[in-house]
Amino acid sequence: MKSVLLSRFLILLPWVLIVIIMIDIDIKRTIWIPVAGRSSRALQQQQQQQQLQPRVARTGAPRVTQSQNQNQSALPVIYAITPTYTRPVQKAELTRLAQAFRQVARFHWIVVEDSTTRTDLVSRFLARSGVSFTHLHVYTPRRYKRAGMPRATEQRNLALTWLRQHRTKKDPGVVFFADDDNTYSLELFEEMRSTRGVSIWPVGFVGGRAYERPVVSGGKVVGWYTGWRPDRSFATDMAGFAVNLQVILANPRALFKRRGSQPGMQESDFLKQITKVTDLEPKASNCTRVLVWHTRTEKPHLTNEPSHRKDTIVIEV
Ligand code: UGA
Ligand code: MN
Repeated sequence: MKSVLLSRFLILLPWVLIVIIMIDIDIKRTIWIPVAGRSSRALQQQQQQQQLQPRVARTGAPRVTQSQNQNQSALPVIYAITPTYTRPVQKAELTRLAQAFRQVARFHWIVVEDSTTRTDLVSRFLARSGVSFTHLHVYTPRRYKRAGMPRATEQRNLALTWLRQHRTKKDPGVVFFADDDNTYSLELFEEMRSTRGVSIWPVGFVGGRAYERPVVSGGKVVGWYTGWRPDRSFATDMAGFAVNLQVILANPRALFKRRGSQPGMQESDFLKQITKVTDLEPKASNCTRVLVWHTRTEKPHLTNEPSHRKDTIVIEV
C-alpha cells in the first residue's frame, strides 16, 4: 500500500512542480516587468512604439472603428492651406488651428512657411499636432515684404502647385485657405465638405465690420454686405470660400497674382479665374451664420524682453 502511494506521489510530483513554477513565472511577469523592466530593452522598444503612435494620427488615421472608417473614406478630404511666418505668436496661432483641425475627419493640412527653410519650431509642432499634414516653405521676395503689398501669394501658390502635382481626378477633395490668424468653428468644415464647385459664407471681423457676408436670394448670391470696396466682384475674405479640388485641377493656371493685385483684392482676383458669382454655392444657412472669425491675435508687449538671454534655460514660446 505504502509503495503504491509513494509511486503515485512520485508521478504527480513533477506535474505539481511544473504548475507551481508556471504560476510563479506568471506572477513575476505581472509584478516585475512594469517596474524593474523600465530599463529592459523590450520595454524600451515598447515605449518607443508608444511614442511613435502619435505619428499614426499625424498621417490622418485617427483611431476610429472600422465602420466609422468606411463611412469616412467616402468623404472628400478637406485640404486647408495655411501660410505662416515666424513671429512671437506663431506657435500660439498654430496651436489654436491644430486643436480645431485635429477634430475634423478626413483633413489634410498644407502648411507653407514664409521662410528659406522649414523651421525647427514648425517642424516639431506639426510632428506632434495630431493632424495629417504636408510641410512646405517658400520665402517671399524682399521687395514684396512691404506695407500695401498682398501677403502670402507665393505660399498659397506653392500649395496649389503641390496639389496639382500630388492629386488627380480620382481624388475627391475640397480646398480651403486657412490663414493662421483666424478662429475656426468645427461646423465650418461640415458646411464646406459638400462643395461641388466654389462655396461661400460670411466671415466675422473683416471689411471694417462685425462681419461681411454674401447676400443670397433664391439660393444664389445676388450681392455683398461689406464695409470695404463693395466694387469687388467677390467681396469676400480668404476665409470665406472653399473650392472643389477638381476645380483647382481643371484650372491649372489659376493662381494668386502679384502683378496688378492690391491687398484685399487677391480673393476676388483668384475667384474670377475659376467661377462666376451666379455659380457660387451659399453655405452656413444661406450665408446667415458666422462660422469663422478674423480674430488676429494682438501683438504681445515685449518691451522688457532682454536682448541677450537672461534665463538659465532655452525655452520655445
Ligand atoms: C488679409 C486677408 O485676410 C489675407 O487672406 C490676405 O492675404 C491679406 O489680407 C492680403 O491682402 O494680402 P491680413 O490680416 O492683412 O489678411 O494678413 P495676415 O493675416 O497678416 O497674412 C495672411 C496670411 O499670410 C497669414 O496666414 C500669415 O501668417 C501669412 N503671412 C503674412 C506670411 O506668410 N508672410 C508674411 O510676411 C505675412
Ligand atoms: Mn489676417
